[in-house]
Amino acid sequence: MSEPRYLVTGVAGFIGSAIARALLAQGHAVRGVDNFATGRRENLAGLKGLDLMEGDLADPKIAAAACSGVSCIFHEAAIPSVPRSVADPAGTHRANVTATVELLVAARDAGVARVVYAASSSAYGNQPTLPKREDMLPDPLSPYAAAKLAGEYYLRSFHAVYGLPTVALRYFNVFGPHQDPHSPYSAVLAKFITLMLAGKTPTIDGDGEQSRDFTYIDNVVHANLLAAAAPEAEVAGRMFNAATGVRVTLNQVVAQLRDLTGYRGEVKNGPPRTGDVKHSLADISLARRHLGYAPQVDFATGLERTVAWYRQSLAAVG
Ligand code: UD1
Repeated sequence: MSEPRYLVTGVAGFIGSAIARALLAQGHAVRGVDNFATGRRENLAGLKGLDLMEGDLADPKIAAAACSGVSCIFHEAAIPSVPRSVADPAGTHRANVTATVELLVAARDAGVARVVYAASSSAYGNQPTLPKREDMLPDPLSPYAAAKLAGEYYLRSFHAVYGLPTVALRYFNVFGPHQDPHSPYSAVLAKFITLMLAGKTPTIDGDGEQSRDFTYIDNVVHANLLAAAAPEAEVAGRMFNAATGVRVTLNQVVAQLRDLTGYRGEVKNGPPRTGDVKHSLADISLARRHLGYAPQVDFATGLERTVAWYRQSLAAVG
């Protein structure tokens, strides 16, 4: 097997495993690293030929070994949850900031040609203007948002100071097959779909009028592959939204999910969540211009595919 050209961090996670799957399908040799804090071994099923490394990137030795010989890194490793960061801000900092800095140091020392980073739309916070554009001032509300934004700034500085070619993609509420539905911190669609398929009651935080630019996983994988291949002069040191440019409210989503899952039970409303953002919608014109990005799968199609996948995987578990 040839020396891997690509490194995917957080390879056992929802997004990392999807990127690795796409690279392997294109015939590339891929190394993956994960500490299995939130990653799951079942996500690695089907990643044939993956060179898997188990370890924590906050350890400089692991970061150096992971970067050795690779030319492009997709940095997806993170603890991806707003409420979890509210419960444990220091843990979120270690996983999302310290590990990112160690990875960047190792990437710089290994002469890596491109680092693509999973940044977050949460960096925009409650900026009142919609859609959110990359030139708006950030307004991180939660420790998670602050940590993800710190990572972005580290990328920018490693480009400015050491010339490391970095690209940050601000993901907007990614969803799709393989997203973990079982943690109290799980993303809303994974959670609601599995609850409703099982005939259990979902609880909406607040009035359900909050809105999101829910982005199907294939669109995010596509944006990553484009960011890896785009000319350095066009993208290095920069940040782009990765989204669809369309938003839906949670109440609308619940109505669609009733249709798709056949759920007829009640839906509860709880208190609004601490640190929550009310509305989120991306302007994707910068990514269109510089990455040639366009959404590949719209929300309704993505939701259908996701419900079908959870239905099948629940049936397989019995
Ligand atoms: C935020 C980021 C997103 C990031 C993610 C990581 C924003 C706009 N988005 O997502 O880019 O990838 O963190 O976790 O900041 N909800 C319920 N009931 C539930 C669970 C959630 O009503 O059982 C509500 C939440 O209160 C929230 C919405 O659903 O209003 C979405 O929540 P969630 O899926 O956790 O993602 P965000 O916090 O929006």
